[in-house]
Amino acid sequence: MKAFVKTKYGGPEVLQLEEVEMPTVENDHILVQVVANAANPADWHLLRGKPFFARFTSGLFKPKEKVPGADFAGTVVGKGSSVTGFEIGDHVFGAKLMGTAFAELVSVPVSACASFPKQFSFTEMASIPIAGLTALQALITHGKLKAGEIVLINGASGGVGHFAVQIAKAYGATVTAVCSGRNAAFVQSLGADKVIAYDQENIHLHKGKYDLILDANGNLTLDDYKRMGRRGVMIGFTTLGHMFSTLFRKAFSKFPLIQFTVEVNKADLQTLAEMVTQGKLKPQIEKEFSYLEIPEAIGYIEAMRTRGKVVMNWKTIPL
Ligand SMILES: NC(=O)c1ccc[n+]([C@@H]2O[C@H](COP(=O)([O-])OP(=O)(O)OC[C@H]3O[C@@H](n4cnc5c(N)ncnc54)[C@H](OP(=O)(O)O)[C@@H]3O)[C@@H](O)[C@H]2O)c1
Repeated sequence: MKAFVKTKYGGPEVLQLEEVEMPTVENDHILVQVVANAANPADWHLLRGKPFFARFTSGLFKPKEKVPGADFAGTVVGKGSSVTGFEIGDHVFGAKLMGTAFAELVSVPVSACASFPKQFSFTEMASIPIAGLTALQALITHGKLKAGEIVLINGASGGVGHFAVQIAKAYGATVTAVCSGRNAAFVQSLGADKVIAYDQENIHLHKGKYDLILDANGNLTLDDYKRMGRRGVMIGFTTLGHMFSTLFRKAFSKFPLIQFTVEVNKADLQTLAEMVTQGKLKPQIEKEFSYLEIPEAIGYIEAMRTRGKVVMNWKTIPL
């Protein structure tokens, strides 16, 4: 099968489309023919081996996993002996956090994927896993958002943020969204009640009060969280220095600020699929690339200015 391969750390140019062995399908795995992938900041972090400390997991001198890619949507074409609940031909979406998804076929544990109704497109569903799970878990699992609360979402126009705005509204919150002025109308169209354009108002001086602060950009300080919020969830990071200094100061503060790593699990994927089915969640795709342009897609999102999601389509490849 065809897959993108990296044998060393570097930019998108180190990715090569190659013929590789089919993945083995373990007992509790399904084999998925990939129709679409999405790009996430984690893809280029893992590609470049940055931040450096992440190499203790991904491989110190060269990547342990040769095939990158997390988010996928596709069709079930095989299954392990203990798999129940999935049939050949089902449409599924999910994520492999450490890679292997930028390929024609991906073998995935059934705990890391969910099926979705066939009226929804692979392109839309591939855009959801990492960003949608992060938004859902930040708001609900860690942020304990309740109906009627007021939430501030910093970085509201990106992959995570644009899902967070919609999920917070669906759970009955009032949402103030922070993004650049060029994306103000976009986040309003997603349901945001108020927008703060960070290029017109300094968020570090903003005096609004919120029950929950979600920072998908990662530039808020502990003082920002304390000034504006009753509790906070830190999702993104701008620099390691900023992240560590915020976490260091938090260790000596009673302010309830949580930092977490997204967990790929079936229950949350099913929740997101139901929200799509109910019309409460609508992925916004800024740009579609062909599978041949996966390196370009990763290069594109490195600017960290994506409006919604970027996806890559494999649908032109006959097996
Ligand atoms: N903790 C986890 O497990 C986890 C999981 C997924 C992602 N993340 C992290 O979360 C962050 C966001 O991921 P993503 O997929 O949403 O990235 P993304 O799609 O690239 O979105 C980044 C967004 O940041 C906004 N932004 C840029 N400068 C900003 C500023 N000064 N203030 C507020 N917003 C600003 C941009 O909006 P404008 O274009 O409008 O400026 C853009 O929409 C990344 O750091 C990623 O690594 C963490």
